[in-house]
Amino acid sequence: MKLENVKIINLPKFLDRRGNLSFIEELNHIPFKIERSYWIYDVPGGESRGGHAYKENEEFIVALSGAFDVVLDDGFKKEVFSLNRSYYGLYVPKGLWRSMENFSTNSLALVLSSTKYNPEDYIYDYEQFKKMKE
Ligand code: TYD
Repeated sequence: MKLENVKIINLPKFLDRRGNLSFIEELNHIPFKIERSYWIYDVPGGESRGGHAYKENEEFIVALSGAFDVVLDDGFKKEVFSLNRSYYGLYVPKGLWRSMENFSTNSLALVLSSTKYNPEDYIYDYEQFKKMKE
């Protein structure tokens, strides 16, 4: 998949003096059915995670709290998406190398996934990833 297919998706936002509210519906705000949700928390400030690609899994990533960068690479070029608000997220199609970097202290990353956890769906070797793109 190419970087052109990546997109920032703005979510509905109800602003209220009692506190704001946003939400996500599968196949409506995001283009896949949610099979799994996980979150990354208690990350030491400045730390990185997730240098890998998925063969099939698609994701939608939201910074529910704090800030971090999602670095995506389609084998030809690289782009950095800074996430720091809970009313938008990043749609990551399958087949991209992705890492999450520069976590701020106390950040909380929500990841919605299109498949159940499957270790065989991961590509951990960047050179192997590059070869698949040739
Ligand atoms: P991993 O995806 O390797 O995290 P990162 O790439 O950010 O370092 O996952 C870390 C561990 O958590 C790994 O042992 C597998 C486990 N895990 C699950 O069991 N289910 C899941 O949905 C995820 C995302 C990870």
